[in-house]
Formats: sequence, structure tokens, C-alpha cells
Amino acid sequence: MCGIVGYLGKKALLPLLVQSLRQLEYRGYDSAGLSWFDSQSNQLKTVKATGKLQNLANALPPELMQETDATHPAYQLGIGHIRWATHGTPTLDNAHPHHSQNGEIVLVHNGIIENFATLKQDLQGKGYVFRSETDTESIVHLLEETMKQTAENTPFIDILRQTKQQLTGAYALTVMHQGSPERLFATRQQAPLVVGIGLNNDEFWVASDVVALVAYTNKVLYLEDGQLVELSPEGLKLFDADGQALSPRVETIVTGPLTIDKKGYKHFMLKEIYEQPDVVRNALSGRLSAVDAPIALENDAPYRSKQHGDSLPKTLDALVADVDRLVIIGCGTSYNAGLVAKYFIEQLVRVSVEVEAAGEYRYRQPVLTPKTLVVAISQSGETADTLEAIRQAKTSGARTIALTNRPDSSMAREVDAVIDVRAGVEVSVCATKSFVAQLVALQLLGIFMLEQRTPALPAQLALLPSLKQALLRIPVQMEAMLSDVDTYHKLAKKYAAYPSFLFVARGINFPVAMEGALKLKEISYIHAEGYSGAELKHGPIALLDEKMPVLTLLAGGSVFDKMLSNCQEARAREAQVIALTNEPIPDGYADTFMDVITYPACDELLSPLLSAIPLQLLSYYIAEHLGKDVDQPRNLAKSVTVE
Ligand code: F6R
Repeated sequence: MCGIVGYLGKKALLPLLVQSLRQLEYRGYDSAGLSWFDSQSNQLKTVKATGKLQNLANALPPELMQETDATHPAYQLGIGHIRWATHGTPTLDNAHPHHSQNGEIVLVHNGIIENFATLKQDLQGKGYVFRSETDTESIVHLLEETMKQTAENTPFIDILRQTKQQLTGAYALTVMHQGSPERLFATRQQAPLVVGIGLNNDEFWVASDVVALVAYTNKVLYLEDGQLVELSPEGLKLFDADGQALSPRVETIVTGPLTIDKKGYKHFMLKEIYEQPDVVRNALSGRLSAVDAPIALENDAPYRSKQHGDSLPKTLDALVADVDRLVIIGCGTSYNAGLVAKYFIEQLVRVSVEVEAAGEYRYRQPVLTPKTLVVAISQSGETADTLEAIRQAKTSGARTIALTNRPDSSMAREVDAVIDVRAGVEVSVCATKSFVAQLVALQLLGIFMLEQRTPALPAQLALLPSLKQALLRIPVQMEAMLSDVDTYHKLAKKYAAYPSFLFVARGINFPVAMEGALKLKEISYIHAEGYSGAELKHGPIALLDEKMPVLTLLAGGSVFDKMLSNCQEARAREAQVIALTNEPIPDGYADTFMDVITYPACDELLSPLLSAIPLQLLSYYIAEHLGKDVDQPRNLAKSVTVE
């Protein structure tokens, strides 16, 4: 989704801004732009381009792009943006940065201004001419109008604050003003924004994600909702929404390496699929050390300090003890991970688990009590619906946990506790390793809850040593699976031309079928649905004929036989039935399956960790065979920061 960068300092400006935007590129975008202060003409300059960032780089003045840090004794100042269209198509006019009518103010914006239609009408009535279809343009004209209505020499930060009071919605803004040539201004409201700080407090970066600035500094200030910041060679000034000066809480980034590198793989998605054995090892490390040792799960919440009046971090055992209900919320792949966890936790821990898509949950009035534990699952920790849903849960008095790959994210900063899934940066828009890491973290949470429960459940506890043993075996089993790519090449070639797929499973693998369908549709644009085998007869079977591949997940265990019957029903309608199984197919089924993909035998409760991988590989190779943009599928964004 949209990305913001900004810089104030003595480094070569345009190469730095382009490089920072490149770090955000993976999030999905359709146009890009930069503005900078040109000290020779005393003017703000802007260049924009549609399509890939390289188009922008090619359109920038070559002499400025060739500058090096050594050539710059003076302060440089600029902002940049990649846009994922919400209001208006991806055109040059709609691309950011946007200028005020008098050309003296320029800004970039992430988020959505909900009252933009009213603001626009009002501003048009005052003579402002809109050049774009964006909601953003209303902010920049409103800044100019506020300036006109305010006493001369009012500091620009106050103009920004007064303008902000008139905005409704979610936004992160970074602004330059011609009258303040060595100053960058920024503010946020329900959209992330972080400031990077140079060694001597006289050089600053602004970004919507720390990934964009981590190459330059590890000293950062995460802005909180409502805060405004003014950056200049004299230092950083932080204000609250009322204009009161605040003392900034500067943090040293402690997250793992945030490097973005394909490491020789053709696509990030393939690299991330192959990273999964290590992702599982990482997720287990220090948490599951021996089969007879309890799970050690700590609150991975980011830095808190008494100086800022933070409450002491809550420990996870305090949060899960005496919980009588678990509610899991998430979107897309994270939601599917929650559905798998429902089977795992209810069966093992005997606690009731509800799972709901966060975008629906936030508009209901769910029943929550102080004994409800609400777990928000989010790779990015920034998904707008999940963030809002967990906020509401917290306000209603429930206990809250964020299970995320980004312990530095907005979500992680607002909940009682954080479980870091430790997947490392996931660059491909299509989630793969984060799904598997979420599953492991949820399994650990389930086992941890069982071990903390009073009164204890001896029969359930007796299951744990073999389950833990099986979990520790998963990385090696994954490695064995990943050594075979020929199968997927062949299957991709055979099935890529089919226009529609069904993924069918039962039990704990039913959500994996949904996840498999999601993977296929998002990167190959082939229509696919995940169904429970039990539901097949209640409608979807009408779709089946020789033109419909039906990929069936046959994990050994409680529903294996039921699934075999479903497969026969599908084959009887001449569907192209493919089996994905970790159990020998019984005699008599030779004609049922067109193709059989096998994976290692494992505990049924853990089978989603393995069964997900062939579905990821199949989707990857089909999309690759079809020549699709695997890592940046059309219309999708990595971090969905708007509703
Ligand atoms: C699918 C995918 C999306 C995300 C969803 C939630 O491959 O990536 O469905 O899972 O947008 O994102 P997070 O987990 O960041 O909240």
C-alpha cells in the first residue's frame, strides 16, 4: 500500500529518497513521486511517474541522481511517495506529492481522508481548483487556506496542527513549506509513521515503515496518534495534538535484520517458501527446548519505560490464566491461520475459540468479558481492520495479544502483550512463511495455555511430549519436501490452463484448503475456492465436471476416510481430482486420482504446517508458468492500512 519517505540532512538527496522508496516497493503500488527543495531557485520541485519506481528514477534530473554524499556540504530536504490508488485511478495527476494552489506547500499522504468530499466542496467554493481526484489534495489546499486565515508568521507546525483538527480519517502526512526551507513536518492519525534520527540529532529520515530507513540509522521515534513533529538542523521537536511540547522517546531498533534481498531466487515468494524450515526453527528457538520442558513464551512487546508513564508489561502467563474464551481476529491469510488454531486449541486445550475476519468483527457489537482473550493475527501489524478491531476489544475490557511478525508495529504498541512470530521480513505480497510462522506461534500459545491451566487437564497434558517431539521434527520434514520441485513444475504445466479450481478438505486442513485457494487466486488470477468436503454436496458439486480440478487434502487421521468418500463423489462427476496426502492411498482408489502429491506423515494437529507447502509451491509454479508478476500481483498491497 502507499509508502512515505522523507529526508533532511547532507546526504545526496534524490538517490537516498529513491533508495528508501525501493525498500517499500514490495508493498504494492501503482505510481510514485518526489519533491525536494531546490536551494538555487528557492523553489519546491516535483517529479512523478506512473508504474514502477524505475520510471520515476528515469524521470529525475540525471545530474541530481548522480550526486554522491561527498558532494553535499549543504542541507538537503525532500519527500517521496509510492501510491496505491484509493481515490482516483493511477495517473500522474493523482500521484503524490500534491501541491497547494500557490505552490508553496507540498505533501505526501498515506490513508484516507473520510471528510474529503465536504472539505473539497468548501474549498472549491473558496476558489481552489482541484487537479486530481484524490482525497489528499483537499489537505494541501486546506493547509494553504488555514495559512491565509492565520496571523502572519504563525509557525508552520501550528498551521499543520490547526489543519489536522479539520481532518477526519486515517492518515500519515509529511509536509514541506517553501517558507521553511530547512524544515520537514510530519503527523499521524491511525496510520504508521516513524522518524529516524542521525547520530548528532541534525539529520532525519521519515518513513511509513522503518524498513525504509534502517539502512541509515537505528535510532528511531515512532510517532503516536495525534502527534506532530518538526525536524530541522537544530533538532527534533515533538508536539501533541494540542500543541504541547513532548519529550521524544527515542528507541534503538532491536528487531532482526530488515534486509531485502532475493538471494539468487527468481522471486521473493520462492525464497520465502524455502526459508520456512528455518522460520519454524526460529519460532521454536528458546520457546520449545525439550519435549519434557514447558513452553517458554514471553511478552515480546516493544520497549516500555516508566519515564513515559507506561504500565508494566503484562506477562503471558498472567494473561492466559483463567481465560474462559479465546477470540481470534485477522484478515486474509492471517484469518486462515486463526481458523487452523481454532481446531488445534479447542481440541487440545478445551477452551472455546471464535475466529472472525477483523473487518466484520469491528462492525459488530461482540460480547466480551475481562476473561476473554482476543488475539489479533497480523503479519504487518498495520492492517487497518485488525488494528481497529483489537483497539475496540481492548476498550471493551478484554485481554489483548498481537501475534505479529512486526513487534515494532502499531498493533504491537497498543495491546497487552505481543507474540513475535519471527518470520523475518516478508517481501512477496503473497504471504507464505508468515502463515507457517503464525501457525507455529499459535500452536505454542495453545500448548502454553494448556500448561498454565488450573485445574490441570491430565489427559490433555499427557499428549504433549509426543506433540512437542513432532513439532521439533517439522523443519527437517519441510526440508525433505522442498527438495522436490519437479512435481510442481509438471503439475503447473498440466493444470495452469484450467480457469477454476476447488480446494477441498475437512477438519484442521479445511482452513489450509481456503489458504491454498487464496494463494492460487491472488498470484495467478485463476478463480479458486476452498470448501469443506462436507459442504461439497450442498452446492459446489454442481460445478464439477471434467473441466474442474479438485485438489483434495487427505491428511492421515480423523477425517481421512470421510475425505476419501468426498474424492470419489468428485471423481464420479468426472472432476480432475488431485490428492495431497501424507497417508498411503488404499487399494481400490487407483482411478480416483489424476495426480497424487505426497508429504511426510505427522501428527494430524500439526499437518497444516506441512500441507500448506505443496499448495504454496503449486500456486507459485502455476503463476510463474503463466508469466504473472508473482511478487507484486495486480491490485494487491502487502500492508492494507486502509479499510
Ligand atoms: C495473502 C495476504 C493477505 C494478508 C492480509 C492480512 O497472501 O497476504 O491476505 O494476509 O492482507 O495482512 P496482515 O497479516 O499483515 O494483517
